Amino acid sequence: MNLTTKYMGLVLKNPIVASASPLSESVGGIRRLEEAGAAAVVLFSLFEEQLQLEATALEQHLEEGTESFAEALTYFPKVGDYRVGPEQYLELLHQASQQVQIPIIGSLNGISSKGWIEYARKRQDAGAQGIELNLYYIPTDPKMSALAVEKHKVEVVQAVKAAVTVPVAVKLSPYFTSMASLARKLKRAGADALVLFNRFYQPDFDIEELTVSPTLHLSTAEEIRLPLCWIAILRGQLRISLAATTGVETSAEVVKYLLAGADVVMTTSALLRHGPGHIATLLSGLQQWMEAKEYKSVKQMRGAMSQKNVADPAAFERANYIKILEKYKQEYSLKA
Ligand SMILES: Cc1cc2nc3c(=O)[nH]c(=O)nc-3n(C[C@H](O)[C@H](O)[C@H](O)COP(=O)(O)O)c2cc1C
Repeated sequence: MNLTTKYMGLVLKNPIVASASPLSESVGGIRRLEEAGAAAVVLFSLFEEQLQLEATALEQHLEEGTESFAEALTYFPKVGDYRVGPEQYLELLHQASQQVQIPIIGSLNGISSKGWIEYARKRQDAGAQGIELNLYYIPTDPKMSALAVEKHKVEVVQAVKAAVTVPVAVKLSPYFTSMASLARKLKRAGADALVLFNRFYQPDFDIEELTVSPTLHLSTAEEIRLPLCWIAILRGQLRISLAATTGVETSAEVVKYLLAGADVVMTTSALLRHGPGHIATLLSGLQQWMEAKEYKSVKQMRGAMSQKNVADPAAFERANYIKILEKYKQEYSLKA
């Protein structure tokens, strides 16, 4: 059985990639992911704000409280609060790429196309075989159009691509007016892969303290459907690598994402819940399924249920919406 796959030009021994998480904060952690069978590891992100803080010693300004930009940044952690600084990050990348056989992908989380871009090149020099760009941004300004938001993302990708020769993946948030069009623009800007999707971390309210509190719940398998749907739609329409991220709890989710058309399937929540050894469970479940269904390779599976390949392509569009509602009504009236 051939589990190999190609992701943004990298040949991987299987389709399971450990996505950005604290599990990659040490060489030991990265080695454990490799031992468990991960085909590649995406390192946790360094944030643009963190790099800016370091570069301009903004922390000092923050304490003085004089600058309006600095004031805005008070909502971010201070320099010393990040567990790993930019230099340590490069050192980790260097050490890890010396000590493991699998590709290490560095992750940058930022939204502007200035200053921090050169950092992408430093990662490449430190041994990263790819860069994952996380463009997490919530456009709250009513004057900012969807087109402006997209243009901005395209410019960041172009700037990073101009700075490095290793492949660049773009990790996107799930909600855009026209996802397929944006995906095409990013490909044209040079993106080698799309990582679908960032989870949208909505804050909660603490009604005792009357504060807005950050929340992070690990994902569940139910959450695969949004990325699953978009991977199935994009596969067959765009020649670009696609990585699935969100909700991979068992091998069933791995199988679904591959059938939709993912080149690789990423996982974090399940590894935090069950430990890195869970990768081996995902892989053996995938192999068992392939054997039962007589698939000989991941390549053969990939996209077998994409929108282009299913018997009923309308199942991914408006027709599906109408069908779901009608089906529910029929079932409900039967029960009533
Ligand atoms: C504790 C934690 C830390 C994470 N850190 C990062 C990060 O540094 N950069 C990033 O792009 N994604 C980060 N993620 C998101 C994951 O890489 C992944 O995309 C997301 O959790 C969805 O996958 P999952 O359902 O398998 O968890 C983090 C997720 C968790 C739970």
